Amino acid sequence: MSQYQNSSNRATHDINHSRFLVDGRGLSKVFGTLTAVSPLDIAIKAGERVALVGPSGSGKSTILYILAGLIPPDSGDLFLDSKSTVGLQPGRELSEFVGLIRQQLDLVPQLPVVQNVLAGRLGQWGLLRSLVSLFSARERDSVLATLSKLGIADKIDEPTSQLSGGEQQRVAIARLMLQAPKIILADEPVSSLDPARADEILRLLTGLADDIGGVMVASLHAPDLIREHFTRVIGLREGVLQFDIPSEELMPSVLEALYDLDQQPIPIS
Ligand SMILES: Nc1ncnc2c1ncn2[C@@H]1O[C@H](COP(=O)(O)OP(=O)(O)O)[C@@H](O)[C@H]1O
Ligand SMILES: [Mg+2]
Repeated sequence: MSQYQNSSNRATHDINHSRFLVDGRGLSKVFGTLTAVSPLDIAIKAGERVALVGPSGSGKSTILYILAGLIPPDSGDLFLDSKSTVGLQPGRELSEFVGLIRQQLDLVPQLPVVQNVLAGRLGQWGLLRSLVSLFSARERDSVLATLSKLGIADKIDEPTSQLSGGEQQRVAIARLMLQAPKIILADEPVSSLDPARADEILRLLTGLADDIGGVMVASLHAPDLIREHFTRVIGLREGVLQFDIPSEELMPSVLEALYDLDQQPIPIS
């Protein structure tokens, strides 16, 4: 039985579970007649790095979007850094806690790199300021320092569309570094990368989470990368949790069964 069965225990919960940076209880999402995510409890402590695995359509992106506040869940409660997320707006109040790199990166191609990186601070900027894209020399310097760490300082004034795919991914990471949220989410961050670059991107993301004392949650499929970069792995199938185990226990057979579409998923109990 879930330890969170009694949701009237909210006050007690806040005190007892404040060590969880992510604390979701009974989160679910239905699209029309399709249950994308069946009620899911997910609690993640500082320092954890969680991999979400499962075949296409198993609900990985939906869960990340719910955690990022981009999709309101149909049921359940979500606390980020012990605060209820009810009524908090993504891109504004929520951006203090949580940052998401989506598969499509969400960069504005025609803008120079510097402005896309500074968009990581939009949550802390006023709307007018973000529209006119004013930024100070100090802000430019902080972008430059961040881009230097990622090896693309020379691209700061280039239109973002002129960068390679791998460089654009770094711009998205630079934006996240400036935002500096404790909860870092990444949807298939390495799906289009060769093995060496995949390893490097995961190193950057986990390094960022470690520097901030936060957590990282990412969807991906490669078992060797999961064992190397993640502490925990959550398996999903048709929106239903299949396992939640330490990453060193991720045996090939476990993953094969999860991805084997001929096998029946574990039914919802
Ligand atoms: N906005 C949406 N409208 C309708 N169905 C959706 C929407 N987003 C996702 N789905 C469906 O929800 C299920 C889970 O999708 P998703 O979370 O994207 O899975 P994954 O990321 O694991 O591939 C899929 O069947 C998908 O088609
Ligand atoms: Mg997805």
